[in-house]
Amino acid sequence: MLSKRNKITKVDDRLKHIAFIMDGNGRWAQKRLAPRSLGHKYGASAFKRIVKYCYELGIKTVTTYAFSTENWSRPKSEVDSIIQLLHDYTSEVIEDGRIRIRFIGERANLSSELVEVMNNAEEKTKDREYQLNIAFNYGGRSEIVNACNRLISQGKQSVTEDDISNNLYTSGLPDPDLIVRTAGEVRMSNFLLWQLAYSEFYFTDVLWPDFDKKHLLMAIESFYKRERRYGGLNKTKEKK
Ligand code: FPP
Repeated sequence: MLSKRNKITKVDDRLKHIAFIMDGNGRWAQKRLAPRSLGHKYGASAFKRIVKYCYELGIKTVTTYAFSTENWSRPKSEVDSIIQLLHDYTSEVIEDGRIRIRFIGERANLSSELVEVMNNAEEKTKDREYQLNIAFNYGGRSEIVNACNRLISQGKQSVTEDDISNNLYTSGLPDPDLIVRTAGEVRMSNFLLWQLAYSEFYFTDVLWPDFDKKHLLMAIESFYKRERRYGGLNKTKEKK
């Protein structure tokens, strides 16, 4: 749906799920000669605003890459600052009343305190309308391996695509229609490897803490200009 100024004000069914790789927090801080943790702080604020805009636009499912399995190699102070932001945001989500949160990623090696926070938030928000998935200690390959191992332990001799989808952390949710990555890197970094099979990608040089509503709308406008064929032919070619 377009407003008078030709700006998108609502999305339709084609955009049910948007995912973000929030890159560039470190560079944003470096440019200001500030500690990387400040970049994450402003990154978390940008994220909160973007999530609100997405829901206002009618996108029902949002996923974000907050912490990969490789991010543990960063300095402890930086890791601690990200975990603290996650704690704070989780409390806000519980208060918010509309957002249903799901943490996607491996929990086995996390502190019992953090796992408790995650379980509690998921339980308290489980009947809400707007889905938010936060990838924490997440790796796409290990997600697929875990799904296969689960199926093996159920005694499966052969598996279908649905079997795998149903055993991923995102089970029951639509695959992402659009994946946005900021800060100029053009790669997926082990994010949603199974789920992205037919996703559209949007890359921008904007650093994540600077990513705002106008950048979101540019990504969505670009998405709507594309023709998703899912391996089929476009209409012109079909007629030939
Ligand atoms: C990538 O930027 C960003 C991260 C590894 C962490 C993202 C975390 C947050 C925005 C805060 C917590 C999240 C929520 C959902 C409240 P980078 O540090 O790799 O940036 P660089 O490539 O410029 O160094």
